[in-house]
Amino acid sequence: MTQQNRATFGSKLGVLMATVGCAVGLGNIWRFPYMLGQNGGAAFLAVYILCIILLGLPVMLSEFFIGRYTRKNAAGAFKVLAPGTKWSLIGYNGVLASFLILGFYSVVAGWTLEYMLQAVTGSLSDKAPEAFAQDFKLFSTGIFRPIFWTVAFIGLTHFIVVSGVKEGIERTSKVMMPMLFFILLALCIRSVTLPNASEGLYFLFKPDFSKITSAVVLSAMGQAFFSLSIGMGCLITYSSYFSKDTKMQITALQVTILDTLVAVMAGVMIFPAVFSFGIAPTAGPELVFITLPNVFQQLPMGAIWSLVFFLLLALAALTSTISLHEVATAYVHEEYQITRTKAAWFVSGGVMVLGILSSLSIGIWKEYTLFGLTFFDLLDYLTAKIMLPFGGMLICIYLGNRVDRKILKEELTNKGTVPFYFFNTYAFFMKYIAPIAIGMIFLNELGIIQW
Ligand code: PFF
Repeated sequence: MTQQNRATFGSKLGVLMATVGCAVGLGNIWRFPYMLGQNGGAAFLAVYILCIILLGLPVMLSEFFIGRYTRKNAAGAFKVLAPGTKWSLIGYNGVLASFLILGFYSVVAGWTLEYMLQAVTGSLSDKAPEAFAQDFKLFSTGIFRPIFWTVAFIGLTHFIVVSGVKEGIERTSKVMMPMLFFILLALCIRSVTLPNASEGLYFLFKPDFSKITSAVVLSAMGQAFFSLSIGMGCLITYSSYFSKDTKMQITALQVTILDTLVAVMAGVMIFPAVFSFGIAPTAGPELVFITLPNVFQQLPMGAIWSLVFFLLLALAALTSTISLHEVATAYVHEEYQITRTKAAWFVSGGVMVLGILSSLSIGIWKEYTLFGLTFFDLLDYLTAKIMLPFGGMLICIYLGNRVDRKILKEELTNKGTVPFYFFNTYAFFMKYIAPIAIGMIFLNELGIIQW
């Protein structure tokens, strides 16, 4: 079943950093704070953490099992595990999701490039708090500039995917991820020492459970899947490169903890500043882009801070867009038997069209909506809140019911050499808790059941 001579990650740290690189991205620093801001603050955080533990960890471990056991990409894995069945739907769902996520993610990734440029040209300094909001609006609703950056970001991703400089990325991740962590820490410290910071910390950490609605639960679950990059087979592909002695339980735990830590730190960096500068926590996708420049202004050599920050954010986004692009490119390449380069062009071309439409839907095409959502929001909603949890649910159902427990345990304990104390709990969660919980959240949101 397994293939010999398949590439593996170079070292233990390499495994961890590459996987963290895929998980940590705009989801943690851009999407998490604005979702939290729009969904009731600390109550959202509580539900989010519950989703990470109850759903995120079991699904991640299950993806690791599938990837390393079959040594295949997401779609291929199910052809090996369950040939001739409909289970490959999980892979197709993932491929489509990666394509659609890229369609809006690259727009925001493009914004980070614009902000890097603005840091260099000095246009991010000496402004009143409201001016940052106005300038962001002017930029993001424009036509040429945001599209230019979106296309540039997709081009950058395309270049890396086709020229196979992934080793370089693995090496850069090792330096960049710790750097990102330290700069976040420094910004957290600056933010919590601003006047009125405690209000932001209350908003982030003092839950008002009456704020929990079905929409909040669905958003928290979607954010958990999106942030951990699970439910779409991305981690199946990554774990297919793990070596036979990678301790997958530990890797899953480390990735989950680091990813959650970065998200919470982003919250600590944003919300005290939001309250201190009188920005609305519910501002939405622009939240990070209008709050942080205010914080940078308060620092000595603010322009350098903002340049370094947006550079690191762009790189964090890049390690995620590469993984997303790879899922789609590998699929097109293998399934339609065309060269990798052609496959990558095909993916990049499609993503550019989606990216341009998403960018325009924030500005001149704002009026065109479906189910009340702009194109940008529709792609976000469809992927994070539907496709990823749906994929995760199917992965759990498949593993819980179709895979021999002995094989599962053998793989997850590296043939009995690593203890797995909570194996029965994990198996129970995967078979019952995760699929039922996800199913109920869907049904509740659709109004079919009510709790
Ligand atoms: N987890 C990434 C983030 O938080 O930015 C986004 C992402 C990457 C989602 C890869 C899904 C994926 F397969």
